[in-house]
Amino acid sequence: MKVDNFRLTLGGKEYVPIIIGGMGVNISTTELALAAEKLGGIGHISDAENGYVCDRIFNTSFVSRKRKKYAEFIDNPDKSKVLFDLAEVEAAQKKYVEHTISQKTGNGAIFLNCMEKLTMNSSSPTLKVRLRAAMDAGIDGLTLAAGLNLRTLDLIQDHPRFNDVKIGIIISSVRALSIFLKRAVRLNRLPDYIIVEGPLAGGHLGFGPDDWHTFDLHTIFTEVAAFLKQEGLDIPLIPAGGIFTGTDAAEYLQEGAGAVQVATRFAITREAGLPANVKQQYLSAEEEDIVINMASTTGYPMRMLRQSPTLRYAIKPNCEGLGYLLENGGKCTYIDAYYKALAEKKPGEPLVVEEKTCLCTGMAKYDCWTCGHTTYRLKETTNRLADGSWQIPSAEDIFLDYQHSTDHSIKLPEPETGA
Ligand SMILES: Cc1cc2nc3c(=O)[nH]c(=O)nc-3n(C[C@H](O)[C@H](O)[C@H](O)COP(=O)(O)O)c2cc1C
Repeated sequence: MKVDNFRLTLGGKEYVPIIIGGMGVNISTTELALAAEKLGGIGHISDAENGYVCDRIFNTSFVSRKRKKYAEFIDNPDKSKVLFDLAEVEAAQKKYVEHTISQKTGNGAIFLNCMEKLTMNSSSPTLKVRLRAAMDAGIDGLTLAAGLNLRTLDLIQDHPRFNDVKIGIIISSVRALSIFLKRAVRLNRLPDYIIVEGPLAGGHLGFGPDDWHTFDLHTIFTEVAAFLKQEGLDIPLIPAGGIFTGTDAAEYLQEGAGAVQVATRFAITREAGLPANVKQQYLSAEEEDIVINMASTTGYPMRMLRQSPTLRYAIKPNCEGLGYLLENGGKCTYIDAYYKALAEKKPGEPLVVEEKTCLCTGMAKYDCWTCGHTTYRLKETTNRLADGSWQIPSAEDIFLDYQHSTDHSIKLPEPETGA
């Protein structure tokens, strides 16, 4: 039994049932998404901090323009007036999505991971622009993430591509799905796929830092499948979180999953955006290094390596240039934590900001090392080099291993000289 015995059908098209999950900020790069697309699967890009990502790729100046415009607020904890220019958000989104879509060469698809929690100090208008610009730019699918996305479909219901673009939702419980479906039914636009994310995933989690281990993906997957059956809905279900071998994946497909979504094994591939030294940190991580904490300003628990530099940040909030996580009204729990620490700091002592981390900056600079629970197993997936470091596999190596492996075996990449 292997993944290659199965296919995902979406909108009359067949795909290899492997989806590389969205990993912001620019960990799931254009190149990573295209690698999946070329092999007939589905790759995600993420629109988290899209202006910043564009500046990095295309040498544009979205961030510096915004920073200049709001320079007067740099020392002001009140960021309520630090707003995104919607035309700039639209321009960045179109540029990035077009850049990716225009390079497609295979039979697969490119989807966008779009997080509702990226509130940008004006949640609905910015989300609306992000989604519509991606649709205008030809994205194949929209994966609605990080939030209940109760009203998200309303924002695009009059877009000419509303029925043609594939739409999926990431949920971690039957409850979250049923809330989303109520609105979807009313709009007569059911999702084309449903991603069921369990507690072993990377990024933000739908489970608490203390109780996550009392949940498991298989149980939630079975509950969601039963719920869909009871409702008479035939929508591909896609489990995600901790699917580490091709056989793990094939077992879900055998049980009726439409595809699997995987990310951790791809985070350390050549095409992924993490810097080389950070990929080595992921590869050397031990199980005790992988923690879930509440340092994220979103209010959701997040899994990361405890060595993440961002956990020791004491930097000034950077909302004038970034500000992607400002809630409506310009609030962010990092701003509160920073100014509290500043007020309590004794002369001569270093500034220490506890509890919260500046996630916008941490993610942008690859200093927040979010990861899936199975990160400590990445060592099993590649060769150790003579200097003690790990060989970096290509995305194709990992994709084909998922697709063809049997009996939980993992095919190592062809050794480089020195392996
Ligand atoms: C490094 C990393 C970053 C991630 N970032 C995001 C993200 O920005 N948005 C999101 O919805 N999911 C994110 N995820 C979750 C993945 O898309 C995926 O659903 C999940 O990690 C799959 O489980 P696996 O990593 O065990 O294969 C991230 C995962 C990793 C490993």
